Amino acid sequence: MIWIVVGYLSGSWLAALSVCRLAGVPDPRYCGSCNPGFSNVLRLYGPRLAVATLLLDALKGAPAVLAAKLLGLPVWLQGAVGLAVLLGHSYPLWHRFRGGKSVASAFGVLLILVPSVALLSAVCWMLLAWRLRMAAAASLVSALVAPLACVWLAPEYVVVVSGFSLLVLVRHGLNIRRLRRGEEPHLRG
Ligand code: G3P
Repeated sequence: MIWIVVGYLSGSWLAALSVCRLAGVPDPRYCGSCNPGFSNVLRLYGPRLAVATLLLDALKGAPAVLAAKLLGLPVWLQGAVGLAVLLGHSYPLWHRFRGGKSVASAFGVLLILVPSVALLSAVCWMLLAWRLRMAAAASLVSALVAPLACVWLAPEYVVVVSGFSLLVLVRHGLNIRRLRRGEEPHLRG
């Protein structure tokens, strides 16, 4: 239980806000797509701040999830700690429950729980983002790929990873509507 709370609280810290504040640029929750995450920071402020956001958001759940894994907690409890990190990011206590889409946080959590699936999803994300130049489309497909990859690489984690993916898909509701209207913004470059 303690690790679920630690996971949620650490997830609630939104890296984009601290990175942007430190860099002296406007809060990404009020510019661009209004998403406090890697892609919006990339479009608004370029790769330096975006990579810092990505790394910190991916790493923030590590202590709680790593503890759950090293303590040998059952898979469903490891998953609950991971999900708590993602829920913290998407519905942060410190920011009136208005957070991000949990893509980078899910990658960080997956990297600890099922590294092979995390790497496969990341490769899928990068290829699609490079090809389509749209972060949301890459995130949506990668979220679908992750549980499917689990069936093959780590069947015991299928339910847990499906839960992560479901949250990521739900958080992309606006993006799905924009994609259907052909209005989703493109990444730079
Ligand atoms: O990582 C989040 C991404 O999938 C969508 O973010 O800012 O393009 O709505 P954004």
